[in-house]
Amino acid sequence: MEFSIKSGSPDKQRNACVVVGIFEPRKLSLPAELIDNVSGGYISDILRRGDMEGEVGSTLTLYNVPGTLCDRVLLVGLGKEKEYREAEFCNAMRASIQTLNALDVSEAVFFLTESSIRQRFGPNSIWRIRQGALIATEVSYRFDHYKSNKEKSRKRASRKLEKLTFIVERRNELAAAEAALAQGKAIAEGISFARDLGNQPANVCTPEYLADTAQRMATEFKLNCEILGRHEMEELGMHALLAVAKGSRQEPRFIVLDYQGAESSKAPLVLIGKGVTFDSGGISLKPAAKMDEMKYDMCGAAAVLGTLRAIARLRLPINLVALIPASENLPGGNATRPGDIVTSLSGQSIEILNTDAEGRLLLCDALTYAERLNPGAVIDVATLTGACVVALGRLASGLFANDNALAKELLQAGKSAQDRVWQLPLWEEYGEGLKSNFADMANVGGREGGAITAACFLSQFSRNYPWAHLDIAGTAWKSGTRKSATGRPVALLCHLILQRLKQLEIP
Ligand code: BES
Ligand code: MN
Ligand code: ZN
Repeated sequence: MEFSIKSGSPDKQRNACVVVGIFEPRKLSLPAELIDNVSGGYISDILRRGDMEGEVGSTLTLYNVPGTLCDRVLLVGLGKEKEYREAEFCNAMRASIQTLNALDVSEAVFFLTESSIRQRFGPNSIWRIRQGALIATEVSYRFDHYKSNKEKSRKRASRKLEKLTFIVERRNELAAAEAALAQGKAIAEGISFARDLGNQPANVCTPEYLADTAQRMATEFKLNCEILGRHEMEELGMHALLAVAKGSRQEPRFIVLDYQGAESSKAPLVLIGKGVTFDSGGISLKPAAKMDEMKYDMCGAAAVLGTLRAIARLRLPINLVALIPASENLPGGNATRPGDIVTSLSGQSIEILNTDAEGRLLLCDALTYAERLNPGAVIDVATLTGACVVALGRLASGLFANDNALAKELLQAGKSAQDRVWQLPLWEEYGEGLKSNFADMANVGGREGGAITAACFLSQFSRNYPWAHLDIAGTAWKSGTRKSATGRPVALLCHLILQRLKQLEIP
């Protein structure tokens, strides 16, 4: 989708569709009022008849509105003016894009970003433009690579919208608005990239495919990329990671992708993404229902790559390293057995009581590897536990941290990105279930508090730097008829970085 920024008045737009907001109850936003004035009260007359109250996300399409130059005016409900906040803007934006996609409209001009509707606590136009680009891309996203008749599948989902223009009120806002749009576009691209990777089936998206993808990104953006194979990992001593890969014919990979945007003396932010391209559970085999969804078990890796892509696209002044331990988790004659003991890269031994708790085995070696990069902070992103979905549902990702400042930053970034996280405790006592009779620790505790014991396990490998762990098991994809990867938490991570660089508020 193409985006642009303009200043201008709604009645002067020569266009397929102009989108303006209506507050509840039947109260015109300023752009709607301007159209109402030139049209001799056409809009207020319709509202008076009761066709639209202005509830958030409701829409009404009008044709041939007198005094305007556009084909259509789309009225969008914004809810009560006093309650107009980030979430309401997002709902209204989402509803407009859905409506436009269902119409035969290829371009539209949005007045929802215009600054007169800034309320005291409401989102400013910079935020709305950044988020607007994101939402438009997200709503129009399709994954039809494997449909033989793409036209048909698109038409059913009716995607025709090609060009969106966001309006700012004053010409002196244009520069800041363009900067916000560039951010929104880059983040949106990162999200779509992560969604595509996630939606690929596991027979295509193998550890090698992830490595090739990283390599291609390195070429495109001139990044450093190093790929370790089984042999190199053996030499280093990554036996926890290797234990996961043993049952599969697919070779594991350890991907190191390095973006240098700041002086090399600056400590990098390290992002680790769980890259299990298919998780059958291994010898501790999972039940059959929904097992196909375990192709999404590499969504942490996808999000980390998507984030790096957005940051590299924006050329942000930061050093960022992505680490991706990639493997398949399958049963087989050579697979790891419950009870097997391995020595991790850290030197700590692990009794693998359940081969389905494989994510932490991959991640622990990556966490140890991260030490050699002298990181300023490390954040791992993983579809780690079903227990996290039970605890938090599908709204928030689970957040764990050994550093309060980092946890606070993530909570804040999640709010501004509308990609929220919620913190769970990382108290030592929760780790007691991980005791093993035979090794330094076991890879599973009891059933209770499963998301927390998993995080406790990881904390044994991340003592030497500020660290946070995001459990995205409930947020990385949607199930059911609208099954698809979400691209979360790319937006959160990008916002965290922009926030650190003080580039979220553009002067
Ligand atoms: N990838 C799964 C976690 C998962 C399950 C994410 C379902 C989303 C939906 C992970 O590798 C796993 O299997 N975890 C086990 C851990 C258990 C064996 C301690 C789980 O959550 O059941
Ligand atoms: Mn598993
Ligand atoms: Zn898994």
